[in-house]
Amino acid sequence: MSLQQKVEKNIGLMIVLVVLTVSVGGLVQIVPLFFQTSTTEAVEGLKPYSPLTLTGRDIYIREGCVGCHSQMIRPFRTETERYGHYSVAGEFIYDRPFLWGSKRTGPDLARVGGRYSDDWHRIHLINPRDVVPESIMPAYPWLEETAIDASSIENKMRGLSLLGHPYSEEEITAAAAELEGKSEMDAVIAYLQGLGTLIKNTR
Ligand code: HEC
Repeated sequence: MSLQQKVEKNIGLMIVLVVLTVSVGGLVQIVPLFFQTSTTEAVEGLKPYSPLTLTGRDIYIREGCVGCHSQMIRPFRTETERYGHYSVAGEFIYDRPFLWGSKRTGPDLARVGGRYSDDWHRIHLINPRDVVPESIMPAYPWLEETAIDASSIENKMRGLSLLGHPYSEEEITAAAAELEGKSEMDAVIAYLQGLGTLIKNTR
């Protein structure tokens, strides 16, 4: 019996060999990425989220914005002409979880920071139709009326520092005070205004 026939007649051996072949293929693609600075190093100037932007990010997750907005500009001309420089791995080091998304009912937001004024965002989030008449985005008026719940910010930052986000003890203990008097709207806007601003927008 040839080796070919042996493998074809022995399903156990076939499974082992298939797993081996697929693993080698996978490892050859994945392992080099761990040693490549463009995929492992933060882009210049990247800092962990401040207490306000971290809170804004959590509200963004809670409100399901990621269901309609991606944060991942692909390296194609059709994308970069519309949204700006394509996204790079080093921009997402402090994103846990990633909010790259997979659905674009609305535009990609990876470089929306600085594109509009804070006031534009406020009006847009209270009622998108006031600035974009044809918009189908839902309104989020409660963000303006809801004060930030700062009770968990300290624990959140401690959790993230366990994972390697470089927050100092002073930053963590001062966090709750920083959120005082701020609305959820302030947090979401601060988060949006920081998105993608470290890489020069070539748009
Ligand atoms: C049902 C889908 C949907 C959801 C959910 C949604 N959006 Fe949108 N969003 C849109 C659409 C469509 C547009 C384009 C029209 C407009 O500007 O309103 C848009 C536009 C935007 C823009 C302007 C982007 C640009 O480059 O012009 C921002 C900022 C934005 N959304 C933020 C948010 C935030 C923050 C949330 C969550 C609180 C959210 N969106 C939830 C559909 C959605």
